Amino acid sequence: MDKFVIRGGNPLLGTIRISGAKNAALPAMAAALLTDEQVILENIPQVRDIETERRLLASMGAEVELGYGRAQHRTTIRCAHLVAPEAAYELVKTMRASTLVLGPLVARCGMARVSLPGGCAIGARPIDLHIKGLEQLGAKISQEHGYVVARADRLRGGHVVFDKITVTGTEDLLMAATLADGETLMENCAREPEVGDLASLLIKMGANIEGAGTSTIRVKGVQRLHGARHRIIPDRIEAGTFIVAAAMTGGDVNVTGCDPEHLAALLNKLQEVGVKVRHNGESVRVMGDGEFKPSDMSTEEYPGFPTDMQAQYMALATQAEGASVITENIFENRFMHAQELVRMGANIKIEGRRATVRGKTQLSAAAVLASDLRASASLVLAALVAQGETIVDRVYHIDRGYEHIEEKLRGVGAEIKRIGEMFPKRLSTPAVLV
Ligand code: UD1
Repeated sequence: MDKFVIRGGNPLLGTIRISGAKNAALPAMAAALLTDEQVILENIPQVRDIETERRLLASMGAEVELGYGRAQHRTTIRCAHLVAPEAAYELVKTMRASTLVLGPLVARCGMARVSLPGGCAIGARPIDLHIKGLEQLGAKISQEHGYVVARADRLRGGHVVFDKITVTGTEDLLMAATLADGETLMENCAREPEVGDLASLLIKMGANIEGAGTSTIRVKGVQRLHGARHRIIPDRIEAGTFIVAAAMTGGDVNVTGCDPEHLAALLNKLQEVGVKVRHNGESVRVMGDGEFKPSDMSTEEYPGFPTDMQAQYMALATQAEGASVITENIFENRFMHAQELVRMGANIKIEGRRATVRGKTQLSAAAVLASDLRASASLVLAALVAQGETIVDRVYHIDRGYEHIEEKLRGVGAEIKRIGEMFPKRLSTPAVLV
């Protein structure tokens, strides 16, 4: 299992280029299931979740070609013959977003069999809203042996009101509705930029969609969708992570190839904290000289402060003079990084959904454990300002969603190394040397 060794103390200086958004690429790849023609996606990040999605689509009979060389960020998908409309547990358990294939499969094949993500039953989180929505479109749903099975000869338009805002739920239903018979009205939809990006791809494929990016989306179903070529939007969470890294280390970094509009909540918050931020069309320059003021923050659905930046903000809050109260409104139990930050010397008290961070703390290096994708990012940020050499274990979490993070950080002056297994694997039979 790979680890990162990070020596803190260097201000980050230079330019970092942002990759395509994993959370936009995953639904875009699932959308290719809606047509038998070729879908070409550009700006696909090379991260583990994309590889998982590639394996998922391939297991159904899709031809998925990953580009190489200069075209390494291009993926071509052709779902001409789908042999098995099924998402197996082995894949779903490693990536909840695998459930994004549920809607497209039932719309295209009339049937889908998707494993429930580990430990969850229908009715509880995490996919009850996807299921309820598909039922509104006429699908018959059952649960068999840990799988959700959805059946519908042809979905029909319906009225879907999400009880709670869900990003992948909105995307799943949006895809399903494109091939339904008649009109679908979806209310209380997620307004995240990734939903808008999926809608632009679907429209290029021939779908009739209005209102994506707002909370009410209307879809007029069509008989069939065709192939298309689409460029994935930049990753706002990757950009946000590097912006916070630059600020925390007292650096001066130009984060390019991003969309500052998608980062508005974060940039406003950073300005309150005292970070100097300038942005133009597609780059953000961050200067972190000077003291940071504490500032309370609550996560909200877009355009609010993203839950996917909460852990990184907590790392920054340890460097502000005074108390910042962080409230996590989207996910319960998303403070796993706090205890690891405490091991590095941070002063953090958790009460339910609220964390109070008291700074400023000179963090000290420790061996820490990454518990999920964004939690691991916050540990890397903390390590960049800690005294000594921090070891971040289980970086496979970070590899799920950040493309070459250590190379990008090294490029702006961070001291970060990836270490793998210390010894080569033992062979079961002795090697014969010739
Ligand atoms: C997506 C993002 C993830 C981000 C999250 C919130 C992708 C691939 N992942 O996850 O990075 O952290 O949005 O911005 O885009 N819920 C239910 N029932 C459901 C679905 C969701 O109760 O059927 C609840 C969840 O438990 C959570 C809340 O709704 O409390 C929001 O979750 P949701 O927006 O669905 O997150 P994801 O789409 O899985």
